[in-house]
Amino acid sequence: MENKTLYEKLKSYTGEDYYPFHMPGHKRNVDVSFKNVSPFDYDITEIDGFDNLHAPSGILKERMDKVSEFYESKKSYYLVNGSTCGILSAISACCKNRKRIVMARNSHKAAYNSVLINELETLYVYPELIEDYGINGGISPKKIDELLKNEMEEGNIESVGCVYITSPTYEGVVSDILSISRICHSYKIPLIVDEAHGAHFSMHKDFPISALELGADIVIQSLHKTLPSLTQTAILHIGKNSIVDEGAVERYLSIYQTSSPSYVLMSSIDECIERLMKDTFMPFDRLQKEINELHEKSRQFTNIKLMGREITGKNSVYDFDISKIIIFPKSNQYNGQSLYNKLLEKYHLQPEMASLNYVIAMTSISDTKEGFDRLFKALDDIDREIRLYELPLFKENKFKLKKTSEATSFSKISDAVESKKEIIDIEKAEGRVGAEFVYLYPPGIPVIAPGEMYSSEIIRYLKECMKNGLNVIGVKGEKKQVAVTAESWSALEFKRLSLYDLF
Ligand SMILES: Cc1ncc(COP(=O)(O)O)c(C=O)c1O
Repeated sequence: MENKTLYEKLKSYTGEDYYPFHMPGHKRNVDVSFKNVSPFDYDITEIDGFDNLHAPSGILKERMDKVSEFYESKKSYYLVNGSTCGILSAISACCKNRKRIVMARNSHKAAYNSVLINELETLYVYPELIEDYGINGGISPKKIDELLKNEMEEGNIESVGCVYITSPTYEGVVSDILSISRICHSYKIPLIVDEAHGAHFSMHKDFPISALELGADIVIQSLHKTLPSLTQTAILHIGKNSIVDEGAVERYLSIYQTSSPSYVLMSSIDECIERLMKDTFMPFDRLQKEINELHEKSRQFTNIKLMGREITGKNSVYDFDISKIIIFPKSNQYNGQSLYNKLLEKYHLQPEMASLNYVIAMTSISDTKEGFDRLFKALDDIDREIRLYELPLFKENKFKLKKTSEATSFSKISDAVESKKEIIDIEKAEGRVGAEFVYLYPPGIPVIAPGEMYSSEIIRYLKECMKNGLNVIGVKGEKKQVAVTAESWSALEFKRLSLYDLF
């Protein structure tokens, strides 16, 4: 027991020298005008003159119209419940009269929750695999076309509400949105892009172009992830030529957003965009230079590799967001989690996340030169230390992920969640159908979605993640138990989903 309040704990933490290579994008490095400002001073409700987010007609409407003009959207909405409420609203609006959704299997749990609430059937598109690094690549436009074509030929296209993909991914992988949006529109299906990690896109020529400019119908961006804005702040944009019913989006936003939106959060969105409107180029140019320098200097490492733009042009990777520093230890001495621990414990650098084989450090325009220098110095030290204490024992293809078996789904997510459940040891789950989401957090992408079958590979992967101390949600207690449907799988509708890789 620490015997501290949360506030006391935060206060003492922020007084220490930990450097934040994680969200929020303001990095607690705020403009002088915000220093010594108490959030309590600005915390009001919908009093006269301050408008109402759910029926804007005054200052909020004016400001959101200005943001829409800046982003060249048809309409833009401030979100105070993160991208999560934007995703829930966008999917609900597109699928309100339709039963099915075409979605990338590597979607965030917010999208899965919308599928659950709306009782949708999922038609998954699996990302390609970047084998050299063992991470998800992009979503192939061709696969989306094939899937929609098949639905058209079978007379089912009317039941598809939207295509939903995540671009960029947590790791900064961007798909070919222009081609995907053209394909979707040729079938009169709207495209929703989860651009939660790309609020800074289109701000500088060396960052990828936003999906908003590339024909997506709805684009959702978390300002708080990559821009200087408070946690929970986000924006939902409706594309210029969107085929989506924006009235429906607004209706769902008023359901999924709090009825007491925080003026502190809304003004944070407002100030963030105002700052970008005044000076877009300089801060992003400075950030690009720092990142490029870090990559340049890191080329000398023998035991650590930073993933870069070399991944583009294959595995459906259209572009890469270089603001994500993806660090791969090449030596056997480290995996993702132990490198993360070392950066945190010895160097007081707090990365965003660790996976089995890499670490993500997030950067933004609020980072300082000192922060970049500390990161380089730490990586340089670790690289030298490995050279000193270990023979260069590179496992050839250390990053390569073994192909997993096909993922099979036996029911809709909502049917599996509502079914009678059994709680069993994960060891005994092979061949059983999951009744709850199991995912690593971060990134919050389900490894098992309800209705999918536990295979030996999935169980092995989850055990490996737990053994390495990754945060696996949905596997419970000391006994490592999972919820499965009590019915035998044959009682549920069998549907083979894909022959592609799961992770
Ligand atoms: C890809 C992706 N989409 C959506 C979200 C949800 O965003 P928010 O935290 O702003 O609700 C996250 C959160 O990490 C995410 O990684």
